[in-house]
Amino acid sequence: TFSDAEKAAIVSIWGKVAGHSDDIGAEALERLFLSFPQTKTYFSHFNLSHGSQDLRSHGGKVLNAIGGAAGHLDDLSGALSALSDLHAYKLRVDPGNFRLLSHSIQVTLAAHFGAEFTPTAQSAWDKFLAAVSAVLVSKYR
Ligand code: HEM
Repeated sequence: TFSDAEKAAIVSIWGKVAGHSDDIGAEALERLFLSFPQTKTYFSHFNLSHGSQDLRSHGGKVLNAIGGAAGHLDDLSGALSALSDLHAYKLRVDPGNFRLLSHSIQVTLAAHFGAEFTPTAQSAWDKFLAAVSAVLVSKYR
C-alpha cells in the first residue's frame, strides 16, 4: 500500500510523462537494451536502433500501461491482470528483467525531470514499479 505522499508523487510524475509516453518509453527501452543487452533476446522481431518506430511504439505501450496502473494504486492486481497473464503465460519473460526495466525507467525519469524527480518522488516510483513488476510476475510457476 502507498501513503498519500507516495500516491501524490506517483500521480504527479505520471502527469509529466503523459503525452510523451512514446519518447520517454523509447528512451527507457534504449537504456535497457544498451545497459543490459541480454534483455534484447525477447525483442528479436523489433528494430532496436535509436529512435526506431518499434522502440517508440512499444515504449509508449509500456509507459501507458504504467500510467494506467498509476490510476489504480489501490488495485494494481486487477488493473494489470491481463498484462500479468501475457507476461507469465505467453511471453515468459525472466522475472529478473523487471528490475532492470524499472531501473531504466527511473534513470529516464531523472534525465527528463531532473530536480522535479526528487529523492522522495524517486523512492515512491521505485516502490510503484516494484509493485507493478510483482503483479506482472505473480502468475509465474
Ligand atoms: C508486451 C508492459 C516488462 C517483454 C507488453 C505490452 C505492454 C507491456 C503494455 C503490450 C501488450 C499488448 O500488446 O497487448 C510491460 C510493463 C512492464 C513490462 C508495464 C514492467 C513494468 C517487460 C519486461 C520484458 C517485457 C521486463 C522483457 C525484458 C515484453 C515483450 C512483449 C511485451 C517481448 C511483446 C512485444 C511485442 O511483440 O509486441 N509489455 N512490460 N516486458 N513485453 Fe512487457
